[in-house]
Amino acid sequence: MEQGNTRRRSATWFGGSDKSGMIHRSWMRNQGYTDEVFDGRPVIGIAVTASDLAPCNAHLTQVADAVKTGVWQAGGFPLAFPAMALGETLLRPTAMLYRNLLAMEAEELMRANPMDGVVLLSGCDKTTPGLLMAASSVDIPALMVTGGPMLNGKFKGQDIGSGTHVWKFDEEVRAGRMTQEECFFAESCMSRSNGHCMTMGTASTMASMAEALGMQLPYSATWPAVDARRYKTATQAGQRIVKMVEEDLRPSQIMTRTAFENAIRVNAAIGGSTNAVIHLTAIAGRLGVPLELDDFDRLVRDIPTLVDLMPSGRFLMEDFCYAGGIPAVMAELSSLIDTSAITVTGATLAQNIADAECYNREVIRTLENPLQEAGTGTAVLRGNLAPDGAVIKQSAASVKLMTHRGPAMVFESPEEYYAVADDPEMPVDENTVLVIRNCGPRGYPGMPEVSNVTLPTKLLKRGITDMVRICDGRMSGTAYGTVVLHVSPEAAVGGPLALVRTGDIVSLDVPARTIAMEVDDEELARRRADWKAPAPHATRGWVRLYGEHVLQADQGVDLDFLVGASGHDVPRESH
Ligand code: FES
Ligand code: MG
Repeated sequence: MEQGNTRRRSATWFGGSDKSGMIHRSWMRNQGYTDEVFDGRPVIGIAVTASDLAPCNAHLTQVADAVKTGVWQAGGFPLAFPAMALGETLLRPTAMLYRNLLAMEAEELMRANPMDGVVLLSGCDKTTPGLLMAASSVDIPALMVTGGPMLNGKFKGQDIGSGTHVWKFDEEVRAGRMTQEECFFAESCMSRSNGHCMTMGTASTMASMAEALGMQLPYSATWPAVDARRYKTATQAGQRIVKMVEEDLRPSQIMTRTAFENAIRVNAAIGGSTNAVIHLTAIAGRLGVPLELDDFDRLVRDIPTLVDLMPSGRFLMEDFCYAGGIPAVMAELSSLIDTSAITVTGATLAQNIADAECYNREVIRTLENPLQEAGTGTAVLRGNLAPDGAVIKQSAASVKLMTHRGPAMVFESPEEYYAVADDPEMPVDENTVLVIRNCGPRGYPGMPEVSNVTLPTKLLKRGITDMVRICDGRMSGTAYGTVVLHVSPEAAVGGPLALVRTGDIVSLDVPARTIAMEVDDEELARRRADWKAPAPHATRGWVRLYGEHVLQADQGVDLDFLVGASGHDVPRESH
């Protein structure tokens, strides 16, 4: 009943013989529990980010049932609770505006309730980092189970990928190569089962990161949402969290600096999303693990892209699963990562991947025969356009644009750009650098995935498929193109991106890691004197709190007062 000399935290609710103990137990009994649940066994919270409004997470209530089975089997007491379901596709102005609200909500629920350990059920992009941030700030034993990807999209005999084919089909329709009816038909071909995006978008990336960090069971990132093994894994997670409580194995012991370095390297090997840069930074900030933007460049220079998944490659998550998933990738990378890291299994990565095999070398390549050479992952750029950094996903960009010099065409918002993007007279050619600003954490607000604006129709019709775009926003992990993202500081706080003007020459040199405007300092000083800060987006509510406290992209876009941890203690009784 007791662990070592310390009483379980749940026992301070359910174990008392006073009035408070009666209150805590009596109301719970209305759900029909037998006496045993209060005998001091580990109480396991299950954070369920399910909602009809978050389609990627809608099936997590069933996943929670499988976790409960495992918890009961192992002698624990499972209690599921809802946490904010953030769906990328419906939430305006962007789900990212609410990641920290989920993290704050889940943190407080974990701390304020009687639970000794927690299973985190996530799926869509922001729910995975949001829950990991929360668990890190409470630091009770925690284990994640992501909901799994959708089955491969199938359209007219071809595999199509979530998101990636939305951008492609949009371009096809605008270029006149696809009809609106075909595009409408493709919608249900793309999303044909439960689960999150099945490209290597941000959801698949963050699920993979959770596994690489050691926070979910081996293979858990890749089982499709509708595969029976998704539910088997969830049941095993329920069994395992009970043991983790007995071992007192906490997020802070698993998500060490070593674990983050491993995850960053795995992200390069899988061709993962640029959003991982922001989310991993935010999670590390909760744990006090030092992690800087430059780590994301430095640590991946010797890591080739091994996994051939859209948007960088050809295949989808179902194929990745059948090819051997994250353990097969980590086995291939074992000389380049630190496999002594401890994971939720209680074992090291080395032990977890000892039997890992690759079953399809088209999907998961070898170090000797990679999809893309080392040094073509996410690069961190600096210069007078981005003093605090910007990122570019080289594997999703065009090689010929990796060094580029051209005149800027500046837009104050994506809306301003789209208002003219179809104009056949638009004064733009393939050398133009499109600058879209005011899309940062404070500016939009919420740093949406709008940076990869579709090319001007006039250029699409000429068969141009890529051009340099620069933005202080993010890009969907499912997207592609030569897009300089996360420019920091953002325009809305007076970053130099706010000062660039149409016609300025902008130079991008990815090998040299620079992004600059060829404007001298005196002229920039004159422009700065004329710059006026935009008015806040809200005078009340979450958006006001967010706007007053959000950190810039290079610092993970957390709220300044949420960085760090508060532990799990709540000394005072509620009655
Ligand atoms: Fe939810 Fe892509 S929209 S994972
Ligand atoms: Mg996304």
